[in-house]
Amino acid sequence: MKFFIDTANMDEIKEAYALGVVAGVTTNPSLVAKEKNVTFEDRLREITALVPGSVSAEVIALDAEGMLREGRELAKIAPNITIKVPMTPEGLKAVSVFSKEGIKTNVTLIFNANQALLAARAGASFVSPFLGRLDDIGHDGLELISKISDIFTIHSIETEIIAASIRHPQHVTEAALRGAHIATIPYKVLMQLFNHPLTDKGIEAFLADWNNRG
Ligand code: E4P
Repeated sequence: MKFFIDTANMDEIKEAYALGVVAGVTTNPSLVAKEKNVTFEDRLREITALVPGSVSAEVIALDAEGMLREGRELAKIAPNITIKVPMTPEGLKAVSVFSKEGIKTNVTLIFNANQALLAARAGASFVSPFLGRLDDIGHDGLELISKISDIFTIHSIETEIIAASIRHPQHVTEAALRGAHIATIPYKVLMQLFNHPLTDKGIEAFLADWNNRG
């Protein structure tokens, strides 16, 4: 499983990318809205100049024509832009056209396995099931990853599964075990993945022994 970073914040993206583990970036309109004094397009230019992997940029239009118009403009910014499209009938119409035009897509707001299968069959490059938001309403987000992974394996579907709406490190481990190709992770959770008290204790003990050597 690969790691993407789920943010539009440049400081977080730079810090995360420097760790050498980040293969891509996902944004959404809520994340972009938190960023002040920068246009969406300029932020995408900054991100794509740093990160060579997939950078998801979401369309705002709700009709296929509007999504196609917005998506084609966003795709001109850099070759590694992936157009993020909501899981609706209009969204999938746009995805099938983007797919024929060679523009990569990430179908977002996936909450059940049929939605993922539909998106894949429309030609989506990625599907994004939202784990945390399912857990929030008492459903099992991770179970959805297992189901989508099984279906895609049984039917030899190449669309990649991005485990999204990740809230804690356990989501990351479980998403990997259940076959997600990618987890897109907020900066805070990415940094939590490094933590183990025995690592800190071990470094402390090594340093103490080194400083007390004869
Ligand atoms: C990523 O593609 C999603 O937009 C994001 O993971 C949503 O996360 P949230 O449910 O914490 O807003």
